[in-house]
Amino acid sequence: MSSTAITNIAALVTNDPSLGDGSPLGLIQDAALVIDGEHVVWTGESSKAPATDNRVDAEGRAVLPGFVDSHSHLLFAGDRTQEFNARMSGRAYSAGGIRTTVAATRAASDADLERTLTRHLAEALRQGTTTFETKSGYGLTVHDEARALRVAAAHTDEVTYLGAHIVAPELADDPAAYVALVTGEMLDACAPYARWIDVFCERGAFDGDQARAILTAGKAKGLHPRVHANQLSHGPGVQLAVELDAASADHCTHLTDADVDALAHSDTVATLLPGAEFSTRAPWPDARRLLDAGVTVALSTDCNPGSSFTSSVPFCVALAVRDMGMTPDEAVWAATAGGARALRRDDIGRLAPGALADLVVLDAPSHVHLSYRPGVPLVTEVWKRGERR
Ligand code: NIG
Ligand code: FE
Repeated sequence: MSSTAITNIAALVTNDPSLGDGSPLGLIQDAALVIDGEHVVWTGESSKAPATDNRVDAEGRAVLPGFVDSHSHLLFAGDRTQEFNARMSGRAYSAGGIRTTVAATRAASDADLERTLTRHLAEALRQGTTTFETKSGYGLTVHDEARALRVAAAHTDEVTYLGAHIVAPELADDPAAYVALVTGEMLDACAPYARWIDVFCERGAFDGDQARAILTAGKAKGLHPRVHANQLSHGPGVQLAVELDAASADHCTHLTDADVDALAHSDTVATLLPGAEFSTRAPWPDARRLLDAGVTVALSTDCNPGSSFTSSVPFCVALAVRDMGMTPDEAVWAATAGGARALRRDDIGRLAPGALADLVVLDAPSHVHLSYRPGVPLVTEVWKRGERR
């Protein structure tokens, strides 16, 4: 193993409040960072960097942890350009569009699914995402859900079984039978490939009782819950997520004070997905309200062909700052450390000794430029497990 020092970093975001300026970002100015093998082994002032085998001069750029995209739907086929076009001409978004993608996904080969996945992963990596979660949910048969998860498991440890995305079209008249499938044979086939179980708890998808049955069955199989909650309307999703100690309640657009309070007194992260509100012209989730109440907030892309077809975490950071009341610092924390919390990981989302050396170099002197210069491709280098990618 060889050691490498990245020196002359104008601003290093460590997300370790015991380092640097003592803020949640643990910001160190004029910094260096030393990598040994896959891990960070030292951070501090550039002038005090220890001797290493290799040296890389960051030339006054900013360095931050690689983005942790804790919510995406990349196992799909087909395209929903027409639906997007219609929506931008005034039609409302509904969960019904998912069926279009289900039909295309069922017709696709395993190789097609894998190509689509790897294309979007490469796209995300170029924009600084070093860890991503992804879900099934466009197969909705035992065979199609299991093969999607098998494809995903070859590319990430953060795989989520979302057989409960909507009721499969062929069982639309018998939702109880579909819930029995999702909690029975389909769960048995999918659990070996997944770490997480998710459910779309929403009108037109699954109600609170169905969602509880699905998540409880998943827990009994060793999967940890996460929930699509309170996206399109107010519902029981957030309270259920807290009740079941879900790692994250995702979307959180329509919340009561009781929902916010429940999240604030739980270990459940509120994962906000502004790409979805952007692409459906829906009201923004109120990040300020959540943060002021003490809720842990993550920011992710929700990348999917229907409601949010972006793989760009920097884009989501800029939206969150512009429209959701987050400060630039809070948004960067949420897209890195927040995502790590939403995946219950402490080896990523921070750049302190012991963490994985997953990092982003910006062609800018500060992490603030991610929201100050929206739409500009500032990510110039991405390192994953100590290697430049
Ligand atoms: O997170 N809300 C449910 N699932 C996706 C949308 C899926 C689709 O429209 O294809 C979401 O927004
Ligand atoms: Fe989603």
